[in-house]
Amino acid sequence: MNSILGIEGLVKYFDGVQAVDHATFGVEAGSVTALIGPNGAGKTTVFNLISGLIRPDHGSVTFEDTDVTSSAPHQMAASGLVRTFQQPRTVTRMTVRENLHMAAPNQPGENLRNLLISPRAVRRSEETVAERAEELIDLFELRGVADDYGGTLSGGQRKLLEMARALMAGPRMLLLDEPLAGVNPTLVRRIEEMISVLRNERNMTVLFIEHDLSTVMRLSDWVIVMSQGAVISSGSPQDVRGDQAVLDAYLGTHAEEIDPSRHPEDRQ
Ligand SMILES: Nc1ncnc2c1ncn2[C@@H]1O[C@H](COP(=O)(O)OP(=O)(O)OP(=O)(O)O)[C@@H](O)[C@H]1O
Ligand SMILES: [Mg+2]
Repeated sequence: MNSILGIEGLVKYFDGVQAVDHATFGVEAGSVTALIGPNGAGKTTVFNLISGLIRPDHGSVTFEDTDVTSSAPHQMAASGLVRTFQQPRTVTRMTVRENLHMAAPNQPGENLRNLLISPRAVRRSEETVAERAEELIDLFELRGVADDYGGTLSGGQRKLLEMARALMAGPRMLLLDEPLAGVNPTLVRRIEEMISVLRNERNMTVLFIEHDLSTVMRLSDWVIVMSQGAVISSGSPQDVRGDQAVLDAYLGTHAEEIDPSRHPEDRQ
């Protein structure tokens, strides 16, 4: 496997409680990979560890063959890896366009010294930011709401904006934390389509956390399953669907969604 991202033996404790338990997995370059597991399995904590929001107690994170363990989020973004949050970070009192502009990393205009040294370079960079924002507004079909305040968007539109904001940094890999949670069915299809477009047309790698297993089965090239902090299974959607350990982990929650022939009641 040609891994773009690898985590090795990641361990994280919160106040003596082990949230992540020696998690190890790789993500193939150019794949759409799903990270699934019951509530509290440690999925978001793994995202936080990868993206540098928190530091692991043990273990390592490798991105494009470079050890990036404990790199800060802005360093990860500069390296080409950006994540979205389970709760979208839309600024409600800014327009959609302003939200996008604000998400661009390292804008030289923010730094007065740069402005004094090279106003032309600042202008050029601002043009690039504006162009990228307009391109993303079109790609995500946000033109109709581009001048609306973030606070007026629906939950699904916020998820789309959150993805578009992440793309302002021009990443090669995107981590999406529950991009479809609370989204109405029309926008679910649109967001699923966007994830496929990012892989097929933009050559990006996507790792996404999702509870809706029909989406996971439809969209993913590969599935990684966590339970109680540990990676308990990984494989193609078909492999994972039939894995007894996965069915046991989901017992009483989503077992019948993974394999419709199983019902939690049948297995007691
Ligand atoms: N900052 C924190 N402080 C203390 N405990 C935490 C913290 N973050 C996560 N945890 C705990 O770590 C465990 C894993 O949480 P995490 O949010 O990673 O799970 P998850 O798989 O993303 O769940 P969900 O599907 O509900 O989003 C949980 O028991 C949670 O309560
Ligand atoms: Mg989570």
